[in-house]
Amino acid sequence: RKADDAELVDRPPIRKRSSYFTLQYPSLSHAPSKPPLFQQPTQLVTFSYTPDHVLEFNDSALRYFVDPPHGADLGYGYDRWIRRPDERGRLDALLMAWSRFKKSLSEGHPSSQSKPPDISVMTWRGIMTKILIAPYEERDGWELNVMRVGETFYLEEHLTDAKLQEKNIMEPRHRLQSYYGYAFESYCTTSAPGDRGDTASNGRGWGGDVNTNVQWCSVVKTKLGDRRIVIGGEVDCVRAGRHSGSTDGFVELKTSMAIRGLSDEEKFEKKLLKFYMQSFLLGVPEIVVGFRKPSGQLTTTQSFQTVQIPRHVRGKPGAWDPLICLDWGDRFLSFLFNTVQTKTGKDVWRVTLTPKVGITATMLDGAGMEEVMGGEDRIGFLPRWYWDEEAP
Ligand code: A3P
Ligand code: MG
Ligand code: MG
Repeated sequence: RKADDAELVDRPPIRKRSSYFTLQYPSLSHAPSKPPLFQQPTQLVTFSYTPDHVLEFNDSALRYFVDPPHGADLGYGYDRWIRRPDERGRLDALLMAWSRFKKSLSEGHPSSQSKPPDISVMTWRGIMTKILIAPYEERDGWELNVMRVGETFYLEEHLTDAKLQEKNIMEPRHRLQSYYGYAFESYCTTSAPGDRGDTASNGRGWGGDVNTNVQWCSVVKTKLGDRRIVIGGEVDCVRAGRHSGSTDGFVELKTSMAIRGLSDEEKFEKKLLKFYMQSFLLGVPEIVVGFRKPSGQLTTTQSFQTVQIPRHVRGKPGAWDPLICLDWGDRFLSFLFNTVQTKTGKDVWRVTLTPKVGITATMLDGAGMEEVMGGEDRIGFLPRWYWDEEAP
């Protein structure tokens, strides 16, 4: 549907665009009558980033869960934080992983499945999370770049230079709070199972060296409705002994302010939607939340089974319904399939969420394309090597 007959027509376009297509926000009051099924994710491949943020196809960055020390100080080591700068959320690493996976199929075992499945959507877990929780997003909009190559859609977050800068120049208070989250991850993990690590000697159980370059990622295949999706995302750690090519032992770590009253509880229940969706999408069955004081001192930890979380919030003040999200996600993808057209596969579309209003999609013009490519050797936002492998 063109915007001419929709309510978004008064929104001034950022740049001259030929046509808008829009998708309206869903109703939050009715449970969908026939929500789409979501298939249990299966892991295809994993990779790691080293302390220097070099991509390696191994599990060097895999960490194991350990209970954090009681009353841990999450601010410890703040001044030594090696912080990976925020960058454009390019799909390159995911595409490399997918490409390797495909090659392993054709080289490997002739008896097993040797043809890669047809994929409808390829993106990072963070993008899928944003899409699925959009019905409940009240404040923060987002912009995606979308390409359609053959029948596969590629989705990356669109960040302008200005927005990237803004992310990197964090307010000191936010920067510290962000560090608390990473420090909690460090307190809760070791690189060898069952071992508190090299630094138990200082009484804190942990040396306070946080390097956010180090990441372990899993690429999974799943299905929403009848569309196959490949998603890549960071996994904070695994339960020892439960990790062998499956997502069964995955653990997501989160921090949150200790709950002191009803209003805190409601806030926490709202936050659980993001925790839930982020984990659910990657097949992460357990979320360990560290509650902390405003000062950064850890008070308690609580483990949630991901699948139980919707039940936990049902009927509460901050309640949400995951079926509304899945139904919306399915409609969002249908909208892309019906809207995003291209003759060459090289076009880039900009898809924008305005909270409480809906989605718009429009094809970028030359200037928009240049901004997306950022002077790099790309076809749209895809790296050229991938295009050469994959192009129709
Ligand atoms: P918390 O979520 O415990 O605060 P993730 O939970 O996705 O594994 O992310 C790890 C940590 O990265 C978060 O821990 C938070 O500290 C930081 N982080 C994630 N997204 C962020 C954002 N948009 N802005 C600032 N910090 C963020
Ligand atoms: Mg993480
Ligand atoms: Mg985490």
